[in-house]
Amino acid sequence: MALIHLLFFVARILRAVRIAARLEFRFSKDTARYVKNLSGSVSRLDKTRIMMEMNYMLAYGSAEASLRLLWKFGLLEILLPIQASYFVQNGFRRRDTRSNMLLSLFSRLDKLVAPDKPCHSSLWVGMLAFHKALSDNPRDPMVVATFCLAVHNGGDTSEAVKIAKRITKPHDKSYHELLEPQLLDSRALVNEVMNLSASVKQELSRMTDEYYVSKAMAKYPKAPYSDMVFIPLALYLRVRRIFECVGEGKERGFVAKQGRKINHELLSIGSLHEVRHTFARVVFDTVYPLNQKY
Ligand SMILES: *[C@@H]1O[C@H](CO)[C@@H](O)[C@H](O)[C@H]1NC(C)=O
Ligand SMILES: *[C@@H]1O[C@H](CO)[C@@H](O)[C@H](O)[C@H]1NC(C)=O
Repeated sequence: MALIHLLFFVARILRAVRIAARLEFRFSKDTARYVKNLSGSVSRLDKTRIMMEMNYMLAYGSAEASLRLLWKFGLLEILLPIQASYFVQNGFRRRDTRSNMLLSLFSRLDKLVAPDKPCHSSLWVGMLAFHKALSDNPRDPMVVATFCLAVHNGGDTSEAVKIAKRITKPHDKSYHELLEPQLLDSRALVNEVMNLSASVKQELSRMTDEYYVSKAMAKYPKAPYSDMVFIPLALYLRVRRIFECVGEGKERGFVAKQGRKINHELLSIGSLHEVRHTFARVVFDTVYPLNQKY
């Protein structure tokens, strides 16, 4: 097959995955084999094209289904090797119907966005970095809650601590990313929040570092080699902005979004207020699933 044809087919595979995820249809056995066969060629696609397809998959309300399909077809280890290594480490099988925290976070996001109301790519990239930081270094749920509140309010950690200490809801105990609550005092809590914030930024840098990405699956001899980084620098900087406020003191002039109603127009263009609000809500509602208000 001529290269140009091959790339054309490969681009169609990503589109097929995206559409299948959205419409919840299944691939036939033959198609599945075909997709698996060509999956290695995905890395030859143009980065801009990959970014666009990934955004279609993750920002429009079918992120969980898309991640499951990418994993099932062996595409995740090429497109997002760091996240693929999380699946492997957790013994998540190709056709696993269970969930995990990464999938739960994206399923939460899916409930807040839709094909006509997408989120900005900075949100899902930020969620990936946050999840990786948490899965590498599990935390007290109170630390996660305080971090979210501080992201939401533009870095006012003392306010975040005050609010977080009033949380009485139990956290979701099914995630190994969350430790048993330890009744941290305010100072220890803030220290942990700062450390979490630093490690989210560190993960974000790693996700955009080809060398680091190429090591993610190196432990698994059967995994294909991939040093895929499709996140452009401008997007990386934008995602950093979401979290920068935590650790660098309250942002001057930043007024947290009031109320729970999402302004979808602002969310789709990546307004810092909306993205921070939605991030905090997605994480908070994943950690404390029965919680409807905060
Ligand atoms: C993919 O299919 C082609 C023929 O259609 C075959 O030659 C090739 O070995 C297959 N590759 C893999 C990795 O299965
Ligand atoms: C967070 O704290 C741990 C343990 O104290 C330390 O090893 C790690 O380097 C810190 N992470 C960051 C990103 O500062």
